[in-house]
Amino acid sequence: MTFTQTIYQLLDSRVAAALAAAGCEGVPAVITPAARPEFGDYQANGVMGAAKARKQNPRELAQQVVEKLDLAGIASKVEIAGPGFINITLDPAFLAQRVSAALGREDLAVPHPAPQRVVVDYSSPNLAKEMHVGHLRSTIIGDALARVLRFLGHEVIAQNHIGDWGTQFGMLTAFLVEVEQGADTEMALSDLEDFYRRAKQRMDEDPAFADTAREYVVKLQGGDPHINMLWRRFLEVSMHHCEAVYDTLGVGLTRADLRGESAYNDALPGIVADLQAKGLAVESQGAQVVFLDEFKNKDGEPQAYIVRKQDGGFLYSTTDLAAVRYRVDELKANRVLYVVDQRQGLHFQQLFTLARKAGYADATVSLEHVGFGVMLGEDNKPFKTRSGGTVKLAELLEEAVERAFVLVSEKNPDLAEEVRWEIARAVGVGAVKYADLSKNRASDYVFSWSSMLAFDGNTAPYLQYAYTRSAKVLRDAATSAVADAPVILEERAEQVLALQLARFADALNAVAKDTAPHQLCAYLFDLAVVFSRFYENCPVLKSEGALRASRLQLCRLTADTIKTGLGLLGIATLEVM
Ligand code: ARG
Repeated sequence: MTFTQTIYQLLDSRVAAALAAAGCEGVPAVITPAARPEFGDYQANGVMGAAKARKQNPRELAQQVVEKLDLAGIASKVEIAGPGFINITLDPAFLAQRVSAALGREDLAVPHPAPQRVVVDYSSPNLAKEMHVGHLRSTIIGDALARVLRFLGHEVIAQNHIGDWGTQFGMLTAFLVEVEQGADTEMALSDLEDFYRRAKQRMDEDPAFADTAREYVVKLQGGDPHINMLWRRFLEVSMHHCEAVYDTLGVGLTRADLRGESAYNDALPGIVADLQAKGLAVESQGAQVVFLDEFKNKDGEPQAYIVRKQDGGFLYSTTDLAAVRYRVDELKANRVLYVVDQRQGLHFQQLFTLARKAGYADATVSLEHVGFGVMLGEDNKPFKTRSGGTVKLAELLEEAVERAFVLVSEKNPDLAEEVRWEIARAVGVGAVKYADLSKNRASDYVFSWSSMLAFDGNTAPYLQYAYTRSAKVLRDAATSAVADAPVILEERAEQVLALQLARFADALNAVAKDTAPHQLCAYLFDLAVVFSRFYENCPVLKSEGALRASRLQLCRLTADTIKTGLGLLGIATLEVM
């Protein structure tokens, strides 16, 4: 059996229909999970608002709604409570159907919403330097969103909007030429952070070098083949560094997803000319500027959004306008997500406002800044190395794996060393990713090794372990007759587990709608908790016949759901831990 609606959608549409039948056309049902177990599984809270607006007695209105409410085969109990809440308890037979439908299916029977084409702009590091912890958040939040959206049937187009253009590249290519005269090119490029520092130093110390660097910028922008080749060589090395990090992180960004700032270079003059022609860009002190009435500066005047500098150079903002146009016109996006640091919030608000005014994105296209806060050290200050430098992502992940290896070795000294390293890679990298993804992205968070590597609480190791445990039950059962055994839900703990399993689709929809991976983490953590309650209260391997088979089904779907859910977060699961 396949379902076209999630539980939430089903209840929402049925209650809304009953409200309409009771004279409240268009009133939202306001379905939420029950605040307490004694209220059932869900509650519909829409009656109160409707009654107030109509000056009706809410309990009477609730009564009328309940009389019209058709939840046959869905709910076993519908009750009015308090000032007009409608409490709904789902029918165990209905939950059993949902569980059965999901069993053995790779898509876990999650219904697909109307498919969209979603562009996700994420990772997008600046290639002049090495990726640092600041890029971790964009990379993994974007990756998780891309995976969830794809799982829901959307067409996702990843865009790695790398910073591969700008004046720094004159300096870097000029320095590359210098370094090449010595023999240590490879060494020099093995540490890009250091390479950048040395180039900058040359720039500050030697005016002749600075002149060459400036000359190279001009040549690069003018398409000079030699400088272009040098620039490409530098980018290649830098991209390699990024790819090593993507590899460790298990992030699937490829060369095909690359479309950096340089790709828009040729479109920039046309963008400015178009904005001028539309009367949006005007000259101000030699620069081309758009004044947006929607944004006032501290003197109450419209803020200036510069699209061409006095010296004729273009900016980050101009490139982003060209990118909006490309994503809408060429990629045919219905939705564009920008997974970028919260601190760029104003830039994106202005960009979106201007893109609409210029007609680059009409109302059918949703432009969303998926902002995130900063990662803090345990001193509550932005995360830095002990000496105050930026923390390189590659080194951070290495440390995570090493720390996980120590923990795994303590827990499982008997496992072969290479097996322990394999577990450590999944646990260490998983812990770093999960610690980040499980927080509300908009807030800053404190990076703490001890809490992210804990084997209990809302952590990757806890969930990875919950998976291993549920999968082990199945292996221990060593029966193949489970395949289509019916699901029977008599115990409360079984029903609660089944309900949580059946909520998976709603959790994913919430993640997609709010661009909030932490909601999937919260869902998986709750699932692991109700699973352990079930496992304590309901013997599985020791029960017999149909009951044993049914409980094994619940274990199987739990294992599959945790594995799939963690997979959507880009986190690996293990059969042995
Ligand atoms: N390279 C930029 C940075 O590191 C992020 C680019 C984000 N994407 C965009 N379309 N502006 O800050």
